[in-house]
Amino acid sequence: TSEELSVDHRLSQVCEILKENVPYYDWVGFYFKNGDKEELKLRSFAGEPTDHTIIPFGKGICGQVAVSNENFVVPDVKAQTNYIACSINVKAEIVVPLFLNGENIGQIDIDSHTPDPFSKEDEEFLEWVNEEVAEGLEA
Ligand code: SME
Repeated sequence: TSEELSVDHRLSQVCEILKENVPYYDWVGFYFKNGDKEELKLRSFAGEPTDHTIIPFGKGICGQVAVSNENFVVPDVKAQTNYIACSINVKAEIVVPLFLNGENIGQIDIDSHTPDPFSKEDEEFLEWVNEEVAEGLEA
């Protein structure tokens, strides 16, 4: 629908703005629950295209956040066993769940080429971004 297209457009703009304005945000994307399936689907992103457009719940950092409902900050991706590599340049990752009416419906995922770049401030900032996005989804 045209409404979905305009949401896609705004999500892409959010990804671009974050990637262009935070030097250590090298890939920014939004994954959402794929209908009734136990999997995530990539909806919008900024940065290099990824092969991982579908991620089963429980798999990788993203899939773990889909079931934990908690932020996941990874200072060093090499130290993770349940991790899906998108690019050899990625050193660190942060995934923050996106809630609509209390339900975990998706997430923002950010990859960094800088080791251990993410702080509590990034978590709080991205929680706020997701709240704004959730409001836009309702409207
Ligand atoms: N690294 C993620 C997969 C998505 S890419 O970072 C874009 C993960 O382990 O879930």
